[in-house]
Amino acid sequence: MMPDMPFSVRADLADLPDYVPGRKIPGAIVLSSNEVSTRAPQAVLDAIAAAAGDVNRYPQMANDDVLARIATHLGVPEDQVAIGAGSVSLAQQFVQAMCTDGQEVVFAWRSFEAYPIVTQIAGARGVKVPLTPDYRHDLPAMLDAINDNTRLVFVANPNNPTGSVLHTAELADFLDRVPDHVLVVLDEAYREFVRDPDVPDGLELAAGRENVAVTRTLSKAYGLAGARVGYGVASPLLTAAARKVGIPFAVSRVAQAAAVAALDSATELLARCEPVTVERSRVYAALLEMGYEVPPSQANFLWLPLAGKTAAFNEHCLAEKVVVRAFVGDGARVTVSGLPEENDAFLAAARSFTG
Ligand SMILES: Cc1ncc(COP(=O)(O)O)c(C=O)c1O
Repeated sequence: MMPDMPFSVRADLADLPDYVPGRKIPGAIVLSSNEVSTRAPQAVLDAIAAAAGDVNRYPQMANDDVLARIATHLGVPEDQVAIGAGSVSLAQQFVQAMCTDGQEVVFAWRSFEAYPIVTQIAGARGVKVPLTPDYRHDLPAMLDAINDNTRLVFVANPNNPTGSVLHTAELADFLDRVPDHVLVVLDEAYREFVRDPDVPDGLELAAGRENVAVTRTLSKAYGLAGARVGYGVASPLLTAAARKVGIPFAVSRVAQAAAVAALDSATELLARCEPVTVERSRVYAALLEMGYEVPPSQANFLWLPLAGKTAAFNEHCLAEKVVVRAFVGDGARVTVSGLPEENDAFLAAARSFTG
């Protein structure tokens, strides 16, 4: 007989941070999750309803229809595309495809909060490289953090939560210097909101570099955050590995139908990014005028590095029925809505904050 041992889960999960979703408060304006505020177009809702009728059947295992549309849309071969339940799924699959126990994953900090989580779940070790004082990726320091045990580097461009971007020359130079055994994942979840012409298209940088992958999502600009569809573009070796470690049928039939319809409505959906970028400039200028420090952003959100005042700012906004995303002790991130009245409600809360 085995000695009686208490039931337990993996000990290291005790210090795994929970992914904290943006709060949803009835009646409040939700600017906490970088979603678009507008409902999906009728064509997308109709496609979802039609797919729901066949929900007794499994979806396409290989996401064939979504995959074909994305490959065509991007002009890349289908074997260089992997589809997942949100691009966060691809982030996790790439880590699992690259790392075994104790190998290292380098990323800037603060950056997307899922990076340390997917790293630790895979049994890998996260190496956080502080942002520069102006809230950008410190690429020389990230290069210094790479060693023989490093397998993957995440680079979010634009970065979440700071909105900061990397420009073509500095990013190309970085990629040239990263050793071949390390995969660089360029996370372009917010690419469609970028208006700075010197921000590179990650796909162009990845072309010809086997160790560079790009992840993108239909959650943000395409307005399908609730459907869960994202994709990665990478070498066929890596996309095949990502499929191996992915959960079978992770993207539901309804999500696949929504994605196909959204991609078919791409022109209409991408046009909705325009008011967001206009509002971004307006909200940014208004916050600066109020005396807030705000780094320039190319994403659909702004970062307020409020440090010790973050918790009080968050409570104040909640009291004013505006939900922002607080990283207590560090700062608050506020989504820029395409609806001026939602941003005005936030600006009114920011103006009346006395903390
Ligand atoms: C930088 C970044 N990457 C990836 C994601 C994942 O988005 P999704 O899984 O909805 O595609 C997010 C979501 O907030 C993000 O901010």
